[in-house]
Amino acid sequence: MDIERIRAHFSFPQAGRIALNNAASTQPPRELVELYRSLAPGYENVHRGQSTASREMTGLFEEAYRTIASFLSAPGPETIALYRNTTEAINAVMYSLLTEFRDGDNVVTTSLEHNSNYVPWHAMCRRILPRLGRRVEYRLARFDPVTGELDLAHLASLIDHRTKLVCCTGASNFLGTRPPLTRIRQLANAGGYVQPTGSVGAYLLVDAAQLVPGAYVDVRALDVDYLAFSFHKMLAPFGIGVLYGKAHLLASALPFLYGGDMIAQGRVFADRVEFNALPWKYAAGTPNILGTIVSAQALRFLVDLVSPGSGYFWTNRAFAPRVVRAAMDRVNGWNRMLTARALAGLATIDGITIYGPRDAGRRTSLVAFNLAGRDPVGVASALNRAGVEARAGCHCATLAHHALGLDPPASCRLSFYLYNTPDEVDRAVAAVGAIASAPSLSGVLSRLPSVQGVGQVRHSR
Ligand code: ALA
Repeated sequence: MDIERIRAHFSFPQAGRIALNNAASTQPPRELVELYRSLAPGYENVHRGQSTASREMTGLFEEAYRTIASFLSAPGPETIALYRNTTEAINAVMYSLLTEFRDGDNVVTTSLEHNSNYVPWHAMCRRILPRLGRRVEYRLARFDPVTGELDLAHLASLIDHRTKLVCCTGASNFLGTRPPLTRIRQLANAGGYVQPTGSVGAYLLVDAAQLVPGAYVDVRALDVDYLAFSFHKMLAPFGIGVLYGKAHLLASALPFLYGGDMIAQGRVFADRVEFNALPWKYAAGTPNILGTIVSAQALRFLVDLVSPGSGYFWTNRAFAPRVVRAAMDRVNGWNRMLTARALAGLATIDGITIYGPRDAGRRTSLVAFNLAGRDPVGVASALNRAGVEARAGCHCATLAHHALGLDPPASCRLSFYLYNTPDEVDRAVAAVGAIASAPSLSGVLSRLPSVQGVGQVRHSR
């Protein structure tokens, strides 16, 4: 990876920022911001106008669905539904499946999950279905508090012939753990639930918000039924989240949102309404058109960025899976090197507790930790003072913090992406070390040098 060439596409290094909160959101390259701007003069609604502008915008918008499907090695655009983010995509699955859960069914999820892959299932089981007179149970698979690995034996013990759905993160945003999805697919199948389609086994939903940005994901090879991720963690903060779903499931399920483009043209009557074909059945109301187009281009940009010469950006060429795999393996390799360096450096600091797998090869590109006697939010603020952007809190992984006995449920987290450097990791580790060795957090603020430009991001007009 030619890291200086890669960084030249981004504005944050020139602003003096050490951006290590990438698990929350990544930074946008200038080309995508410029693409968004350049599309504005030709903006028009899609599927809702006869102008040349509308036709052209519709073409780009529909192409975006093909690009996303191709990146995931999905069969086609009919398997893609777009929402605002991963949370909304998972909620869409919940509302689609809501009517299918039968009295006595259960849904199995894990204590590793982001709240977005637990709270919707909790709400369905405890708040919504009881009002409809149905009892559906949720079950939580635990993880090993020492290694951070999902307890597969416990997960297996929770899945039975009434388990309609298994939900699992592809990579934990707190512990970094990457559960073995192929094995979990087998366990979901082994439960033996008989779905309305006649297929046997639980559906598998993967929260891939922390997985897709840094790993090669082939939804057909993984045989997932649903998979969700957000573009704002993948270079494109333009308001788009993706739901991949097997076409037969999206075709048979009820949509989450109703109205607008999700209706078959002219097929609304006083006694019946017919839905549009996939994927538009899941596109109610005017969508985020420019956000969709630019977000899909982020995938093309990313592949070109790490595999120069592949020439996908601003074309409509389908991805060659081997090229996507090579590109994402390169991203994964770089992220792993940064993570290993952070793990090794942080481990030398007195009073630190690092959470999750010790081996960078078994985790995604983040490290969460606590310093003895230090409030993690204070640690993140002190890091900011030293020019290092981190995040502290529960990271919406509240169950996992509780499972580790953290009270308050909080940790400080550094998270890396393809444009970060070993030097940035070293500076972050050094700053954590200085914070750990200071007599108090307030003392740290006076001891740490304030980094020029930090907190003073200039806005040019
Ligand atoms: N879920 C995002 C994070 O981990 C926002 O920070």
